[in-house]
Amino acid sequence: MTSEIRHKQKEYSQTKSDEDKKILGQYFTDSPIAQFMSSLIDDEVLNPDKVKLLDCGAGHGILTVSTAFHLLNKGINNIDATLYEIDEQIISNLSEVLEELKAIFAKEKKIFNYNIINDDFVTLRPDLNTETKYDLAVINPPYFKYSVKESIYAKKTTDLFKGDPNIYASFVAITLSALEANGQLVAITPRSFLNGLYFKGFRKYLLDNALLELIHIFKSRKEVFTDSDILQENVIFKLIKNGQELDEITISSCNNITDLNTPNIRVYPKDIIIDTSNNESIIRIPETEKDFQILQQAERLPSTFEEEGYFISTGPVVEHRTKEYLTSKHSQEKQVPLIKAHNVFINGIIWNGNNKKDISFNLLENFEKHLVPNIRYVILKRFTSKDENRRLVAGVYIPIRNLKQIGITNKLNYIGRKNSTLSEEEANGLSILFNSTFMDDYYRCISGNTQVNATDIRIMKIPTREQIIQLGKHSSSFKTLEYDTIEKINEILND
Ligand SMILES: C[S@@+](CC[C@H](N)C(=O)[O-])C[C@H]1O[C@@H](n2cnc3c(N)ncnc32)[C@H](O)[C@@H]1O
Repeated sequence: MTSEIRHKQKEYSQTKSDEDKKILGQYFTDSPIAQFMSSLIDDEVLNPDKVKLLDCGAGHGILTVSTAFHLLNKGINNIDATLYEIDEQIISNLSEVLEELKAIFAKEKKIFNYNIINDDFVTLRPDLNTETKYDLAVINPPYFKYSVKESIYAKKTTDLFKGDPNIYASFVAITLSALEANGQLVAITPRSFLNGLYFKGFRKYLLDNALLELIHIFKSRKEVFTDSDILQENVIFKLIKNGQELDEITISSCNNITDLNTPNIRVYPKDIIIDTSNNESIIRIPETEKDFQILQQAERLPSTFEEEGYFISTGPVVEHRTKEYLTSKHSQEKQVPLIKAHNVFINGIIWNGNNKKDISFNLLENFEKHLVPNIRYVILKRFTSKDENRRLVAGVYIPIRNLKQIGITNKLNYIGRKNSTLSEEEANGLSILFNSTFMDDYYRCISGNTQVNATDIRIMKIPTREQIIQLGKHSSSFKTLEYDTIEKINEILND
């Protein structure tokens, strides 16, 4: 039956413009994913004579259908499903699907009842109705950002969590709130909540009110939502409301939809997955056993950016907003260099005005506010190219000429010392550290994002300042300053 629904989904998708799909966050689940999600449900804790199921943002009901079949096979006799869907045009398809499901249950002498609510799940806030609580929810909520100032969704969930990061967070939080104690929630969403700065309140709400039992990741960014061209990294996760504390979290992974039936499953200590060393509660995902070892090694690093007095910021020059300041002419009096991504190399920053792409920043009125002091920094790229095959690429910036200030684009992060300057050895040490494969792998466990965010770097564990200086003193032993392992770094630190 799920393949019939798939057919309906595809037909329906063709009738909707990309714009409408975006507004509704309407990307339908493929049947193997729906089956995988429902297979995560533990039927043994359910009452076989009455299961109350919630599906919000139901679409064609594929998740309700696959969940109902899963439960039917497990001997559940009676399901009472409530489905929320805002899109009026989809409702007739949804009713048709659910009628068919009801008939299949009836043939088996089992009961499937349903109630479709063609309304807005977030503004309706059904969780506030204390009389109706659900045992189970399997959801693929819509996702889109909304305006904190103008959207009807702004501040609709502030009683649950702080912030307005994305509509999917509102859906998941309301769903969790609408569950009975020990109720199960299986969801597929973007990966962004695991580490995103704006999801801090949402993460806290989830972790305070539920047990995170499992996270499934897709290693390939493509092919999860096959009928759309979205390149969104998605995760499937399972929560148990007010579940009993567990010391372990299961991480399941596959490459894409084709090997979803044979996922790689590993169980890790909870404190490796959830970083409780600061109040960000970042959820980290080791994709392999090696990643797990990296996280364990990282846990043993003694310090953090904050503790060692470092800062990391994004370069202040936004090129499209400062066009009048930018020039490819380079005179020493009226301009200063603008450091861009092509100037950053592992061995240092090269800006000499000879590269065709080199840009200078005109010292026009108010230039000061766009520039930074011309002192030593470690520059960390925010975006790396595919052939670099790394997320973290750092280079030491040594002050050019006798300038007061220089420009750094917002495509780069720059690292320095708060209230002082980096010494040569310290800058070299930081550069070795960030160019090591160890830090690169560690960063990938923290962030699924291809963009390197200053906020993610700030929460990484690092050696102490003394150790970083030690590393810098040995910079000649890191010949390429590249691809060095934690073993080599440790060797020097333990000298
Ligand atoms: C990502 S799709 C998933 C559909 C379906 N659950 C599936 O897995 O194929 C999200 C669905 O939520 C619906 N939706 C969007 N905003 C909604 C809202 N505020 N309340 C209820 N449904 C909403 C969309 O129309 C869309 O059908």
